[in-house]
Amino acid sequence: MNVLLIGSGGREHALAIALSKSPLLRKLFVAPGNPGTAEIAENVVLNVSDHRAVVDFCKIAAIDLVVIGPEQPLVDGLVDDLEASGIAAFGPSREAARLEGSKAYTKALCDRARIPTAAYGRFSDRAAALAYLEKTGAPIVVKADGLAAGKGVVVAETIADARAAVEACFSGAFGAAGAEVVIEEKLEGEEASLFALSDGERVLALGSAQDHKRVGEGDTGPNTGGMGAYSPAPIMSAAIEARAMAEIVEPAIAAMRAAGAPFKGVLFAGLMIGRDGPKLIEFNARFGDPETQVVVPRLDEDLLALMHDCALGRLRTERIRLKPRAALTVVLAAQGYPGEPERGTEINGIARAAALPDVVVTHAGTKRDGARLLANGGRVLNVTGFGADVRAAREAAYKGVDAIDWPGGFCRRDIGWRALG
Ligand code: AMP
Ligand code: GLY
Repeated sequence: MNVLLIGSGGREHALAIALSKSPLLRKLFVAPGNPGTAEIAENVVLNVSDHRAVVDFCKIAAIDLVVIGPEQPLVDGLVDDLEASGIAAFGPSREAARLEGSKAYTKALCDRARIPTAAYGRFSDRAAALAYLEKTGAPIVVKADGLAAGKGVVVAETIADARAAVEACFSGAFGAAGAEVVIEEKLEGEEASLFALSDGERVLALGSAQDHKRVGEGDTGPNTGGMGAYSPAPIMSAAIEARAMAEIVEPAIAAMRAAGAPFKGVLFAGLMIGRDGPKLIEFNARFGDPETQVVVPRLDEDLLALMHDCALGRLRTERIRLKPRAALTVVLAAQGYPGEPERGTEINGIARAAALPDVVVTHAGTKRDGARLLANGGRVLNVTGFGADVRAAREAAYKGVDAIDWPGGFCRRDIGWRALG
């Protein structure tokens, strides 16, 4: 098969590595890709928001499957436009991607399908939202309805912070994403993520992960896209995973199908595991970054075959097999991240790190300048280690980190602390 993978981050590099191992693959293109994907695939320049241009490329290059990494093209309906032109795509339709694109849509689905989640109210009116806050009190969680690049959620410990978050949404801090606001109960417990593959009808668990969102050690400081992750999540026991599938993921897939918007692709459930079991925090309609870097290499399956089956609505596999190994990834970020990252600093030693046993390095925000490799973003590299358990995976990952010579970067040294207790 000829495959076009859309995206440019560490997630896409990890997907490219897995896809390139498939015996079904003839040629892999990545748009736009990064210097890491360039080593194993052909990077192509395409304006992904121009769906006509993507369709035209697929026809010229005889693409059999398009795999979409990030959420924006899904929410924009790229899958709909590809399928309308007879091109198979892995990822949900515009309507099904609303599971990520609109928090209010997902809350309404939870009501219909009786999916356990935080109690909530939704508001498109500032005064009504503020009145609701007076009733609930703090702590409370305020969310802009739409996609806000991970910045639209405030877990408010005081009513003053909650009011400020509501004001920010209605004053346009998140543009159209904040025109509607969801206010919900703060859930207690430990967070974990569960990934599942669906062809619109059947759904299979793909693995669990936990990430570290805060920039600082001990999970302190501002939120980021994720500073590290590991898989499996120790808290996601077989029993908890079975409950999360039966009570959250399977009902969601069934409800989407019943609504005439079958969800095909990977459903990423962000869960809070509390005393009375798993509750849904949010769905994402795509793989996580950096969770993909730890979830996908654990698959003891042909990822391309699975994705193609999902796209064609013919997922027949009984159960997805995982290797009996753990994975842990450390994000190397440029100084300044998550604020304005310093660009253009030189990175050395990747080959040395990648030559170590049980270490894989993926590129997230790099660029080539002749023979030199430069930082070109906030999250720049991911160093992933593998081992018999999370502790061994972490040891391998930090050996890889220490082999890299990049004075312009930093990382957290405590990834996995919760799992290692
Ligand atoms: P979201 O963008 O919905 O994933 O929210 C970002 C983060 O906010 C989550 O990963 C949680 O840490 C936190 N969060 C969101 N909703 C809740 C909630 N209802 N209770 C507690 N924490 C939450
Ligand atoms: N790491 C969280 C995400 O991909 O949304």
